[in-house]
Amino acid sequence: MNQPFVLALLRNPRQIGAVVPSGQSLARAMALAAKPSGKRILEIGPGTGAITKALLAEGASREKLCLLERDDRLAAYLTGKFPGIRVINGDARSTADLIQPESGSYFDVVISSLPLLNVKEADKIIILEQIFSLLNQQGVLVQYTYSAKAPISSSLANRFGVKGERTAMVFRNLPPASVWKYSYPSNYNFHN
Ligand SMILES: C[S@@+](CC[C@H](N)C(=O)[O-])C[C@H]1O[C@@H](n2cnc3c(N)ncnc32)[C@H](O)[C@@H]1O
Repeated sequence: MNQPFVLALLRNPRQIGAVVPSGQSLARAMALAAKPSGKRILEIGPGTGAITKALLAEGASREKLCLLERDDRLAAYLTGKFPGIRVINGDARSTADLIQPESGSYFDVVISSLPLLNVKEADKIIILEQIFSLLNQQGVLVQYTYSAKAPISSSLANRFGVKGERTAMVFRNLPPASVWKYSYPSNYNFHN
């Protein structure tokens, strides 16, 4: 039993949005989609760190990785578990303020375990605005879902000028999940 996860789930089931932490296969599929080596990465909703661990195994560097977790006890747990990685305890709705990027220091990858299907539409828009304001032009958002549908509707993706593609289906996860990647088309007119 993953005790920190179970305790967080009992404290706030809707926020956690899953009954078990991401399994190794899903965590690896997420990390492979991120191609993390050398990239500046923001992980949102890392929970107990299954995906963080997979990112490190796939070559992410601790100095370039930043974790944003709303649950204060999980955030403290992650700080102890991953020395050298910046952990921010806060809400994804305030991502940009919490991160405070210097001008020009955008992320190459945002990788999210947020339970987007449980998030109210208005909050989802705020969170996505924050995420896409921090991604550079070649950047990608990686997100998994347990739904057969995309985690971000095509109308919402259009609103942010990104295109989504499913990069993996992970049947060896409970429940089975799919990994989606969102990026700007190469001809996108990107304004900073
Ligand atoms: C499905 S769980 C993550 C599972 C994680 N991949 C693992 O293996 O433990 C979703 C996580 O997102 C966090 N979360 C939910 N809403 C959030 C928000 N608005 N801002 C930041 N983190 C949030 C939850 O506290 C939880 O840790």
